[in-house]
Amino acid sequence: MLFSDNSTPLNQYTISNALVKDKARMQTTTLEKLFAASSDRFTRYSIEAADLFLDYSKNLIDETTLNHLLHLAEQASLPEAIKAMFSGEKINTTEQRAVLHTALRNFDNKPVLVDGKDVMPAICQVREKMQEFTDKIHNETWKGWTGKSIRHIVNIGIGGSYLGIKTVIDALKPYHRNNLQAHFIVNIDPGDIAHVCKALDPERTLFIIASKSFGTLETLENALSAKEWMQQQGMPEAATAQHFVAVSSNIKKAVAFGIAEENIFPLWDWVGGRYSLWSTIGLLIPLLAGFDNFIDLLKGAHAMDKHFQTSAMNANMPVILGLLGVWYHNYFGAESYAVLPYDSGLETFTNHLQQVDMESNGKTVKVNGESVTYHTGAVIWGNTGTNGQHAYHQLLHQGSRFIPIDFIVPLTSHYHFSEQHTHLVANAFAQSQALMSGESPQRIKESLRAQGKDEATIQTLIPHKKTPGNRPSNTITMQQLNPATMGALLALYEHKVFVQGILWQINSFDQWGVELGKLLGNKIFTQLAKHHVNNDEDTSTKGLIDRFLHANNLQ
Ligand code: F6P
Repeated sequence: MLFSDNSTPLNQYTISNALVKDKARMQTTTLEKLFAASSDRFTRYSIEAADLFLDYSKNLIDETTLNHLLHLAEQASLPEAIKAMFSGEKINTTEQRAVLHTALRNFDNKPVLVDGKDVMPAICQVREKMQEFTDKIHNETWKGWTGKSIRHIVNIGIGGSYLGIKTVIDALKPYHRNNLQAHFIVNIDPGDIAHVCKALDPERTLFIIASKSFGTLETLENALSAKEWMQQQGMPEAATAQHFVAVSSNIKKAVAFGIAEENIFPLWDWVGGRYSLWSTIGLLIPLLAGFDNFIDLLKGAHAMDKHFQTSAMNANMPVILGLLGVWYHNYFGAESYAVLPYDSGLETFTNHLQQVDMESNGKTVKVNGESVTYHTGAVIWGNTGTNGQHAYHQLLHQGSRFIPIDFIVPLTSHYHFSEQHTHLVANAFAQSQALMSGESPQRIKESLRAQGKDEATIQTLIPHKKTPGNRPSNTITMQQLNPATMGALLALYEHKVFVQGILWQINSFDQWGVELGKLLGNKIFTQLAKHHVNNDEDTSTKGLIDRFLHANNLQ
């Protein structure tokens, strides 16, 4: 088995030394041997919670290692950190904000306090506003400028104001209302908006401008262009309110943009962008999939929140997933992490997870301002099986890199092609098995002999066909991908990211790195728009700006 020597143990915890020794011990065994040594490994290393099932038996751990990892969680004060988050403490220290996306899906009938004030009444009130609006669209009392009801809803937003919504909209396709179509304008790319507009019937189109800050360049530019396009299609200025609503915590800016105040759905500064699909930012979800299903989504997430808050660390799904990630990233030197859902409804799940994980934990400074001496956030990647099997799985099986994997497998399908679904599930299970067991020279030899190959050919082929195995994976299953299990799955990964942020001692809830790019983007835009290159630009940037101006005949 190939392990990178890029391991960066978390030496600030005294238990870390034991984990370094555990890694050395794990390198002398294999997953197959660990299974052979204990017949109850599957039951011992599995957890059921919030209608999800996690099999983590195919990991390079034994009881000693697991206990050491749990010790790590204790030494990092994880239980206290969980309490602090749920109770509304301002754990996002650089922005002095509470982190309370969990309050948006709280059905406990208990107050949640921020600065001594219960936020639950406002959450319920805004949810009612969402429901009233959803009803108007569904019962067709909300009309466009020519008196026709709405058929197309376009979400204009990016990052957390797009990814989570799109992921849920995709996952809940079987629940969509037949007479409504969802569209997304995301990127500041003329191709993006142009393609979406082609598919719209302007008289029957509603735009949701989703931007927590109402200051995101891409979203504001796209919103302006969408309004212009609607006017070109005949929408009178006075009818803007019938076709444009906004979701934002910056009501002033949304009003200044021209959105009627009653058409603005608020959210709060304690909802992080990448954790905002549970808020009004997710408005498209009840519109497309129905309000009851939106509530079920929230309830599924709430069930996972309760599990995370109340279960013992050793039976806590997000805690175990988080610890295993740290085990591989910091002790085995794994640099990336593949998340492979076996369901077309989860096609965009990993994209959302990239923001949740990489924007949260891509940090090198600890909460106390010191630099980290170890690796933090992993590169998250992957898309749906079995597509990936015909693309990058070769590298997972025989490549030189060590990549832990999560398989996500709904056990029943919404669709009638049951034979196909059985194949799909079989492939998921087979992949985790193949990654664990590999293919030994002995088995290859026997199979080639059975095919009548001569000894010389057999010897030549063995090194190429040999598959090392011993590559760890988790498998998460659910009865069906439905609003509740989708909610639980999303919350599971949010909490896994939180666990890892605590172990790494970083603030998972700010994203200062993104700001620099925005700043420089504006500076360069001015130069491109004014056809002028600043002298203080580096020569590469200067050269590239020149090329743009030349290509567009602007010089
Ligand atoms: O990518 C940076 C970011 O600030 C994300 O955190 C956020 O989800 C996204 O931009 C969009 O922000 P907004 O909802 O304010 O437009």
